[in-house]
Formats: sequence, structure tokens, C-alpha cells
Amino acid sequence: MTAMSASADAVFAHAVAAFEAGTAVLDAIALQFQAQIAQGLAGGGSLKMLRTFTRQPSGRERGRVVVVDWGGTKARAGVVDLSGGGEVRIVAEMTLTFSEAQKRGAPEPVFDLIAGAVGQVVGAQGVGAAPLAFIYSYPARLERVDRAVALASTKGWRLDGLVGRDVAELLTAALHRAGLARVALAAVANDTVAALILQSYQARGRDAGASPADIGLILGTGTNLAADLGPAGIRNLESGNFDGVAGVETPYDVALDRELDEPPPGAQRFEKMISGHYLGEILRRALADLGQRTAWFHWSASPALATAFAFDSAYLSRIAADRTAGLDDVDALLRSLGISSTREERHGVRALGAAIARRAARLVAAALLGTLRFIDPRLTDRRTIAVDGSLWGGYPGFEGLVREALADLIGRERAARVETAFVKDSTSAGAAVIAAVAAAQRSEGCSSA
Ligand code: GLC
Repeated sequence: MTAMSASADAVFAHAVAAFEAGTAVLDAIALQFQAQIAQGLAGGGSLKMLRTFTRQPSGRERGRVVVVDWGGTKARAGVVDLSGGGEVRIVAEMTLTFSEAQKRGAPEPVFDLIAGAVGQVVGAQGVGAAPLAFIYSYPARLERVDRAVALASTKGWRLDGLVGRDVAELLTAALHRAGLARVALAAVANDTVAALILQSYQARGRDAGASPADIGLILGTGTNLAADLGPAGIRNLESGNFDGVAGVETPYDVALDRELDEPPPGAQRFEKMISGHYLGEILRRALADLGQRTAWFHWSASPALATAFAFDSAYLSRIAADRTAGLDDVDALLRSLGISSTREERHGVRALGAAIARRAARLVAAALLGTLRFIDPRLTDRRTIAVDGSLWGGYPGFEGLVREALADLIGRERAARVETAFVKDSTSAGAAVIAAVAAAQRSEGCSSA
């Protein structure tokens, strides 16, 4: 295949440009995000602003905690030791994967599998009685730190009749069925809260006077933010559901939203443009469309191009990481998907993938700015954002793209006051700190928002 005709070139350039999120548009999104935080606290808008009933740790928390981390295709059960001074150690961990059928079935079998994994890790470690922290990384309305009523799930899950049920009670019942009544559920929290709390624990453990983290951000299969809003407490925003995206959506986003049944159209609009579950699918849709309209990408015979969600988001990271002039690794990747490509096509895929990832990073920056301004309207103080997730950790230069967008929005000097701390694999470790904080709160007989 030779280079494209002028008009095909224009079609391609137009598709890439459609993913550009300019600074003025981002600024408007940041303002809307900020306004929706206030609206959400008052019970309206697309940000759920869920209560967490946890508070910032002192850094001195100690103890052995059993943890469950369930938030995607995988779940983990583990045992974690906190030894104060910000020290945390994962003693043992076991991973479970779920099938598509399990994601649509009854809740009990899923909870039984998780309880089974807990049984195996505590058995292997000789743990008898211990508190358990449950990281449930889907929307849930907490009524206490150990009571979390499930809202509609995200990331492709729809368990039968789960909505309205207390996931803490479901896990407790499964632990009892598994003969693990001495493992007592102490706290339920979101993964964003685990990231925030872990960062605070580590910082304060090293230096008691250190400021705690202000925001916890997850950028993995899904995306979401938690933030310490002072008097309103630490809140789980469920920012993946933010709907102020009209200024940056492409026809591919509109179609993806409309055609997916889970989450249903209109739900998780922000997440559908940003997170790892969707970025590969956006690129697949763009390639399939351009394959029909230009001389490039006539790849519809490949299942990776013809099947929804078959173009893995991890491919975007791999494509971006290829620095060779001929994009040799992109070539190898495409060949493994049954596609033979020209060098121009490979550069085309790379440009599209980069535009999609860049838009995601810029949207994340807008959400962060909206939240930071809600906390500190003039952005005068130093702020810390704890971040975890495969996209942040895996996509080359993602952090740089977010920071660059922040600098575009508020200038280099103010952007430099915002620290992003990568708290890799924060969920289990953060969960343990949350359980220890909950124990301290219980012994003080207090409960904070
Ligand atoms: C989805 C979930 C949210 C979670 C995020 C990251 O957005 O709804 O609870 O925090 O994914 O895992």
C-alpha cells in the first residue's frame, strides 16, 4: 500500500484532531467539575460524592489485617502487617479471576470464591482471629464504615439483585459459610480511598508533621477520585460518572456509550473516555471506521479489529513505547493479531493511540483541578495527589501529560505546588490502614464522616 490520497490524509488528520482537548475546553470542564462537587454534596448532579466514614491516619497504625480487594476482572485476598512509622508489608496475597458469566450471575458464588481465597491465605499464614478490610471498588453508599449498600456496578459487572444489598454483610455471610467467623469485617472502602489513606500513612509515618494526601486517584481498568474535603470528610466522588464531557466527545465516544449495555448509555461517561477498560476500544473503533473511509487499516479480518473490546488497552502502552523508526514492535504486535501493516499505517496507529491517551490525561487534569479548586479556590497551598493504577503506571509518559495539562491550565508555578505521588499497588496496603483507623475510631467511640 502506498501513502494515502490527499483527501484520505485529511480524513485521518481530522480523526486525530477530534481527540484534541484544548486548554479552553479543559478549563470549562474543570469549572463544571468543581460546580458538580458542590452539587453532589447537596445530593444532585453526576458526581455521587459518597461518604466514606474514614479519616486520615496518624502514621502510627499497627497490626495484622486480612484484606480483600475486589474491583475488576480480578480479586485479591491477602494478609498485611502494619508496623507503624508508615511501614507496611504484604505478607501473603492470592489472586482470583472471574469469568464473564460470573459477572452476570448471582452475588453469592462470587462472594464464596472470595471467602475461599481468604480461607487459603489465612490458613497458609496461620492467622486465626483478625480484622478484615474490604476494598469494594464499585459504587456503594456507605451507612457506616462497615456497611456499604451497593449501587449499580461499573466495569462490566451486573450481579443479579446486588443493588440495594450490603456488600459487607454478603462477604461476612460468605466468610461464615467458609468457616471463617473469626475473620471479622471491620471496614469497607473504595480503592481511591485506599490510595489516599496509604499515601497519608506513609508520609505521616516518616514525619508526623507531614500533610496528608488531599486526593486519591485511580487510573486503571476504571477511573475515580476520592478527596479529603475537610468538614465534609473524605468522599468517594465516583468521578467516572462525571457527565460534563460534551465539549470533547467524538462520534466514537458517542457510539460506544450508546451501544454498550453495561454501564448503560449515559452512565460512566468520563470513565468511558479515560480508563483502561475503554481506551483500546476507542482506538479499535477509530481504526475500523478509518479502514472503511481511507486506504489505510483494511484490517477488519482480524478479530482484534472486528470484535468489541478485543483491542486491549495495554496495546496502546506498547505502541507508545516503540521508539524504532520503523515501529518494529508495533509491527510485531499487529502481526500477532493477524495484521500485516505498512510503516505509514503503523505511524498512523501510533498517532491515533497517542491522541486518545493524551485526551485521557488532559481530562484527568481537568478533574483534578476542579477538585483542587473546590478544596483551595486560590490554589495557594501545596497539595498531594496519591495515584495508582495500570494506566498511570504503564502508559509511557502519562504522568507528564497530566502535569503538562495542569501547567497549561494554571501555569507552571502553581502546577509545581501539586505533587503527584505514585502509590503502586496501594489497595491492599491502604485497606489495612483503613481497618486500623476504623479500629481506633471504634475504640474512641466516635464516627466521623
Ligand atoms: C470504577 C468504580 C469506582 C472505582 C474505579 C477505579 O469507576 O465505579 O468505584 O474506584 O472504577 O477502580
